[in-house]
Amino acid sequence: MVEPIRWEDGKVIILDQTELPTDLVYRTCEDVECLAEALSSLRIRGAPLIGIAAAYGMVLGVWGAGDEGKLWDELERASKRIRSTRPTAVNLFWALERMKRVAEEHRGEGAETIKEVLLKEAEEIHAEDRRRCRAIGENGAGLLPEEASVLTHCNAGALATGGIGTALAVLYVAKERGKEVRAFVDETRPLLQGARLTAWELRQAGIDVTLICDGMAGWVMGRGWVDAVVVGADRIASNGDFANKIGTYSLAVLAKHHGVPFYVAAPLSTWDFSISDGTEIPIEERRPEEVTEGFGRRTAPEGVDAYNPAFDVTPAELVTAFISERGVAFPPFEEEFRRWRNGEDFLAMVSLTRR
Ligand code: MRU
Repeated sequence: MVEPIRWEDGKVIILDQTELPTDLVYRTCEDVECLAEALSSLRIRGAPLIGIAAAYGMVLGVWGAGDEGKLWDELERASKRIRSTRPTAVNLFWALERMKRVAEEHRGEGAETIKEVLLKEAEEIHAEDRRRCRAIGENGAGLLPEEASVLTHCNAGALATGGIGTALAVLYVAKERGKEVRAFVDETRPLLQGARLTAWELRQAGIDVTLICDGMAGWVMGRGWVDAVVVGADRIASNGDFANKIGTYSLAVLAKHHGVPFYVAAPLSTWDFSISDGTEIPIEERRPEEVTEGFGRRTAPEGVDAYNPAFDVTPAELVTAFISERGVAFPPFEEEFRRWRNGEDFLAMVSLTRR
């Protein structure tokens, strides 16, 4: 599996996903500004990976600080800059809070100690995500039939996480277990994460892929070619409403109409228990030029208005089940989410960070 991010000698090495699928280009970030730019421009993207990058970004921010006073200033500056990059994926804010909390626990112990603690925490967030992805795959694989044709949207794979992905982990583990898995991949307008990233990643993993334009999903489902839709998420509210890449909501409506199960796979770091429903999820709006002249070629008349929300919110009632590292939740979701949240594994992860 491809490794989209790593820490190396005081630097963050990222796989520049804007160059895929034609070029495999790694870039080196030595400061917060570089990392923040990589987040905004989607060189690094996908909710769990955004969280991991945010954690490493905090380490980058303090790495050069000579004394503790300076370190606290730099930590605040890094946090402010990183939180300005992408508003929807809650993993970003979750990771920043976790990094700040661990630093606070060592206040007064000197810059070198706090730097060390922060690096350890970022590496733990990264390693933990790897374990969460594997568990999501194990928990979700059983939901797929022996011969499964799965439709997915955007990229919720290894390129979006610290491990084997969330939605795609379900496919990978099902394949490992001997199931025959093939995928329909939505192109995912306007930035083509499906075509450029998911089609590339699934092919690398030896999974049979058919790429379709977003508007073809209903037709393909209507022909009986889709056994399940599996997608990732950027933020899940307490009631199960969730944000994911624009186009996910339409897919859920289509799945309901055609009686196709619709699954959402995500780690607990994607749940936002502070909000009760999807109306409270902030939706990132990006430049209209991504729609009118994406990839450098104008595809709409000069001067035409374009609306470009990067995400939409799917109501919980359209979801068949959520898959997390804790298990599979069928409706009513809130009860099961509460159990997950209070569960021992989750608490262990939290307390691990407080050691
Ligand atoms: O704008 P992106 O590419 O960061 O959007 C990514 C998605 O919408 C993914 O489906 C989501 O983050 C889940 S990734 C495991």
